[in-house]
Amino acid sequence: MKKIIKNGVIVTATDTYEADLLIENGKIAAIGTNFDTNGVEVVDAEGNYVFPGGIDPHTHLEMPFGGTVSKDDFETGTIAAAFGGTTTVIDFCLTNKGEPLQNSIDTWHAKSKDKAVIDYSFHLMIGEINEKVLKQLPEVIEKEGITSFKVFMAYKNVFQADDETLFRTLVTAKELGALVMVHAENGDVIEYLTEKALKEGNTEPIYHALTRPPELEGEATGRAARLTGLADSQLYVVHVSCSDAAEQIAQARSKGLNVWGETCPQYLVLDQSYLERPNFEGAKYVWSPPLREKWNQEILWNALKSGQLQTLGSDQCSFDFKGQKDLGKGNFTKIPNGGPIIEDRVSILYSEGVNKGRITLNQFVDIMSTRSAKLFGLYPQKGTIAVGSDADIVIFNPNKERVISAETHHMAVDYNAFEGMNVTGEVVSVFSRGDYVVKDKKFVGEIGKGKYLKRAKYGSELSSKERETLQSS
Ligand code: URP
Ligand code: ZN
Ligand code: ZN
Repeated sequence: MKKIIKNGVIVTATDTYEADLLIENGKIAAIGTNFDTNGVEVVDAEGNYVFPGGIDPHTHLEMPFGGTVSKDDFETGTIAAAFGGTTTVIDFCLTNKGEPLQNSIDTWHAKSKDKAVIDYSFHLMIGEINEKVLKQLPEVIEKEGITSFKVFMAYKNVFQADDETLFRTLVTAKELGALVMVHAENGDVIEYLTEKALKEGNTEPIYHALTRPPELEGEATGRAARLTGLADSQLYVVHVSCSDAAEQIAQARSKGLNVWGETCPQYLVLDQSYLERPNFEGAKYVWSPPLREKWNQEILWNALKSGQLQTLGSDQCSFDFKGQKDLGKGNFTKIPNGGPIIEDRVSILYSEGVNKGRITLNQFVDIMSTRSAKLFGLYPQKGTIAVGSDADIVIFNPNKERVISAETHHMAVDYNAFEGMNVTGEVVSVFSRGDYVVKDKKFVGEIGKGKYLKRAKYGSELSSKERETLQSS
């Protein structure tokens, strides 16, 4: 059935205006006024913003990690995402050295198919580069539409790749049209500092932060950026947490390098002191890179405002406090790294960003949706409100005040990282390809209706015809 969203204020990355949207066959069919409402479902958005669904470029749903598996899977994770105003997630597909890449991708398809309630795609982890891997990568791009590769510079003896692997990935990505993503921390030095801390009997959660100082994030970010320049390639630095790393990105960009940076809500509003909370509560805030001293927050906000950082990912990787985080009681290295963020990503950016005057409304849409669509080959199918784009739409009440709490969230875990935080703004309804997923704050979606998205190569924007061919190939 056709729908018309009436009386709202449409917000995109560039414009804010009053108009109605006609939705047909899952797409935005027209933008205007005075549409014929005969036989059409009319949705009244009076007093609300209407913006493109959020794109979360960084999630780890049902991911094996730290001796356990992240709790939110593609069902609970995407339901929570939708409640938070996100309509597309791009999840990290882990790979194992020596195994065919397709096996890992098939594992990720098996986890997500029949579960996701919104559309989704995958980035692919690169742990090694050799002739066998090089042979497989063109197919990963052409057949799977996976056009972003992730290299970990940390987590020694688990995911960490060496500099040769990173450099060869950058060179290959340039040839194939992919974007290289890095987790930028110096894993070797972290290993040394960690062993030293444990030997000295320092086992509490705060030592997670103290053994991963910002210098090591800055160093790895600068190293990755320099290697990108040498390879004449393209780089996206995930979860930038501190001034040291943001500075390296700004410096690389000032030299004209194709280096992009993502930060996360947790680094914008929480700080290192959370890891010192008593009764092991600090473990709730253990993720990598760690939370930083508070003064870094304003630098990250300014980097978003000035465009030196471009996107906001959740780095959703949730674990229960009881039964998962407590694996690390008495040894901080055993605390599974990650937090539940997917649901509050958009709200925090709006409330702390737009409402507090740190970024504009149009920058908000760019940061939480449009820029990720462009960088990751989804634009203009996703990430904007335009004729021909998917009708992934959020109706948002900018005036509603509420309190974030695990009591009311939809993630599957027993705590919320932002517990008790007051926010202004509330997601009212969410549409994925024209169908309600959330209607008046209630879930009405369909489990498994989310579609896997094949993405275009880095730097290319596909026409809707080309995109249809890509999706159906
Ligand atoms: O602590 C984190 N960030 N967990 C998820 C894996 C990663 O490093 O992104
Ligand atoms: Zn990471
Ligand atoms: Zn991550």
